[in-house]
Parts: sequence; structure tokens; C-alpha cells
Amino acid sequence: MMREPFLQTPICSLLQCRYPILQAGMGGVARAELVSAVSKTGGYGFLGMVRESPELIAQQIDLVRRNTNQPFGVNLIPLATRPDLFKAELDVCLAKRVHAMCFFWGVDAAAVAQAKAAGCIVLYQVGSVADAIAAEAAGADIIIAQGFEAGGHVHGTVSSLVLVPQIASRVRIPVVASGGFASGESLVAALALGAQGIHCGTAFLATRESFAHDVHKSAIAAAGSDDTVYTDVFAINWPAGSPVRVLRNALTDELGPELLGHDPDEMPWDEIASEDGRPIYRFSTDSPLRNMTGALDELALFAGQVSGLIDDIPSAGERLSGIVSTAERALRRLQQAAVPAAA
Ligand SMILES: Cc1cc2nc3c(=O)[nH]c(=O)nc-3n(C[C@H](O)[C@H](O)[C@H](O)COP(=O)(O)O)c2cc1C
Repeated sequence: MMREPFLQTPICSLLQCRYPILQAGMGGVARAELVSAVSKTGGYGFLGMVRESPELIAQQIDLVRRNTNQPFGVNLIPLATRPDLFKAELDVCLAKRVHAMCFFWGVDAAAVAQAKAAGCIVLYQVGSVADAIAAEAAGADIIIAQGFEAGGHVHGTVSSLVLVPQIASRVRIPVVASGGFASGESLVAALALGAQGIHCGTAFLATRESFAHDVHKSAIAAAGSDDTVYTDVFAINWPAGSPVRVLRNALTDELGPELLGHDPDEMPWDEIASEDGRPIYRFSTDSPLRNMTGALDELALFAGQVSGLIDDIPSAGERLSGIVSTAERALRRLQQAAVPAAA
């Protein structure tokens, strides 16, 4: 892949990657195969290790390192993880001297301080200006601004187009745009909004290397933007009031307009699938993975509105080079369209 200087922003030097294109650390989905493929081809990958065991985290870090010597990071979610497990997860990442940590869902200043003290670059994904300011005050190096159109857990209520410039104007540290980004045109738009790069989840889920089950990848490739819903019915395992964006399925269709207001403590624990023998419950936040069997299309099919722009399942490297080449085309188009200033 050619080096494209116009796409270089300061976060490329900070993260030591060729392109300012970050692959979101999606729980379950973003394992070593995907992360290595992204980091190897010039992006920056994050292992999605929310609520995983320290043993699996150590194994996945070692696996990426076996595949590439490019840097990568690990994503954890402090406020959705039992404190003792979160401590063990972070400890193993820091003991392994992970290059960057990315946190999400409410600002945990102690986690930022611990990761910074260990020499990590810290990224914080937030859904509001207030949280961006709190994450900067806590010592984060980069803010990831997540818009409402994002796939997976959604922590704010404002679209990327409106949120990103507000956060970019209120913090001094670099901002990366998240939610709705899967193309070069959107990368150029993010730069215009004041971001230094993009953070893509759905686009990298729908690649050959992601650990998502084919049921999930194909559903994204087939979906339109109005096939996603915002709901908190996938509640088991997370704190109450934690909405997600998923593709609608039989389960969300049955709810009709009652997509919100579900209490994790009141959901029935009906086993509908299994992951290598581990029971997977209807209404849990588990999404279908390669190693699961059962009623997979009834699980949480996390996906952003950007699904409407995704109709293939290429390799992660092809997804990345597609973003780079369409960005180049978009920039050329903008330059040609620019009206020269009057003499
Ligand atoms: C399948 C899936 C799982 C996700 N899991 C996590 C996670 O574990 N941690 C996290 O910080 N964000 C997670 N997210 C949200 C992403 O970080 C990001 O905000 C989102 O994917 C951006 O929107 P996009 O899907 O339009 O690219 C997940 C998203 C998806 C699609």
C-alpha cells in the first residue's frame, strides 16, 4: 500500500500507524486475527477484551505479536466489568506492556492514571462533550467521539456530524470520530469536522478476519441503514439503561415500539445458544461469534447505521485500502470542485 501523505495526521505519529484509521475494540469480535490484519496493513487495531479472562487477554496479545510487530492496543470497559476482573484485565495488559489502552462508557480516572503511569497511550471513547472534558482532565491522550449512529453500545444521543466538532473545539488533545465511518469520503468529512482520524466498528466486523459469526457478517452486508434499532433489551450482563444499536431481528420486531426501558434484573435467562459449552442467553449482550451454535439470529446483531453503506465481506486489509483510495478520490473531487478565488 502506498504512503498517502495527505492522510497523515499527528495521531499517526503518536500511534505509529500509516493511516489515521482505527479499528474499534469490539468485544468478542476483535480478536488477534483482525487486529493483526489491521495493524499490519497500516491501520491501528484494538483487541476487544471486555470482560474476558486475563488468560485469554494474554494469549491474544501474544498472538498479535506473533503475527506483526506493528503496535496495537486493547479495549476494556471499566464500568461494565466487575471491579476485581477489571483490575486483573488491566494488570495483565500493563504487565504485557501494551502500546495503547482504549476505555469506554463513563470516565474512570483511576484506570487512565494507572495506564498512563505504566507508559501506555490512553484513548477514551465518549458520547458527550462533558465526558470528553472529563477524560482529558483524567489524562487521556486521545478522545474518540462516538455518535448516536454507532453500532454496539451507544453512550450518547448526538450524531457524529454534530458531536465531533463540538468535542474537537472543547478539548486540546486529538479527537477521532466514531460512528458512521466506513469510507474515504467519511474520513475526509471527519478531518473537516476537526477530527484527526476515524474509528470503525461495523466496517471491520464485516471482514473475513473478524471473529463474528458469518450470520452476523452477512446480515450487515444485506442490511440498509433503516434496519438498525436503538434498544436496551439486550440487557443481561450490563448495567441498567445501557442502550445498543443492533440490526432489527424477530426479537426486536416483537417489542414493537417498546424498545427501551428494560431492566437487566427482570429479564428471563433463557439459554438459546452456546459458546464452546458456555450458555448464551436471549437478551444478553453476547453477539454471534464463530465458536457459537444455536439461535444466533436472535442474539444482539450489533451494527451501526453505516451498515447501509456496507455490502461486502472483504479482508480487513481490503477494507482499509478501500477507505484510503476513496479518501484520495474524494479529496481530488473537492480540489476540482473548488472555485478559484477572484483575482
Ligand atoms: C459488534 C460490536 C461490538 C462492540 N464492542 C465494543 C466494546 O467492547 N468496547 C467499545 O469500546 N466499543 C464497542 N463497540 C462500539 C465501537 O467502539 C464503536 O463505537 C462503533 O462501532 C462505531 O460505530 P460504527 O459501528 O458505525 O463504526 C462495539 C461495536 C460493535 C459493532
